[in-house]
Amino acid sequence: MSTILITGANRGIGLEFARQYSQDGWEVVATARHSGEELDALGVRVEPLDLADADAVASFAGKIDGPLDLFIANAGTNHPMEGKSADDARAWQAMMMVNAIAPYVLGKALLPRMAEGGRMIAISSGMGSIGDIGAGWVPYRTSKAALNMAWSSLAIEAKPRSVTCVLVSPGWVKTRMGGAGAQITAEQSVADIRKLVVGLGIEQTGRFLRRNGSEIPW
Ligand SMILES: NC(=O)c1ccc[n+]([C@@H]2O[C@H](COP(=O)([O-])OP(=O)(O)OC[C@H]3O[C@@H](n4cnc5c(N)ncnc54)[C@H](OP(=O)(O)O)[C@@H]3O)[C@@H](O)[C@H]2O)c1
Repeated sequence: MSTILITGANRGIGLEFARQYSQDGWEVVATARHSGEELDALGVRVEPLDLADADAVASFAGKIDGPLDLFIANAGTNHPMEGKSADDARAWQAMMMVNAIAPYVLGKALLPRMAEGGRMIAISSGMGSIGDIGAGWVPYRTSKAALNMAWSSLAIEAKPRSVTCVLVSPGWVKTRMGGAGAQITAEQSVADIRKLVVGLGIEQTGRFLRRNGSEIPW
């Protein structure tokens, strides 16, 4: 049986990953700050994890025996939207931890627990692209650009163990973050990413991809 670890699995895209992989017979380890009815209903193993808690993030790998076939660093926040006030600045610092630092620290610590040939996927965003930049959302954009750099470094560190590390943009998805007006459902996004993941090998490591497999400019 294949094993997957997913962060932020209590709602949105993370919950959908947990649902689809568990329906497919995978052993799912789901992390969440707080579980919820929908996650509990899946009957998968749930581990509490707040990605803003540096100590919890640094020690988390000790709870995983491995081997893990797939790690999806999914949890993320889009708060704050602006970088204008001191409160925004404090929230922006916290966002950097959740969106960029914690995924890398977790990924690095989990490396020895990855199966050879395993895959580590960070859910990034087109908003992290400097080559395809738009206006606004500066805190979120910087956090995802930092995630892209950290995960690219992780790809180099993971290569000797034949573990593939890829950054994937899920598209504009109808979740609490994406809003009701978004283009696709979490079900569609996750189904596409799962298809993409199956075809990912070490030759793709370090890439920044759309869910259809095309490359996003850095
Ligand atoms: N939706 C989109 O259109 C879109 C587009 C591009 C990229 N993304 C990325 O996709 C990923 C999933 O987003 P989503 O759309 O599913 O958003 P969402 O519905 O807002 O879900 C975010 C998830 O991250 C968790 N999370 C937030 N802060 C956390 C923390 N400090 N510790 C642990 N978990 C935390 C949330 O848990 P709580 O319930 O505890 O807050 C929730 O499970 C994110 O990385 C996001 O940046 C989304």
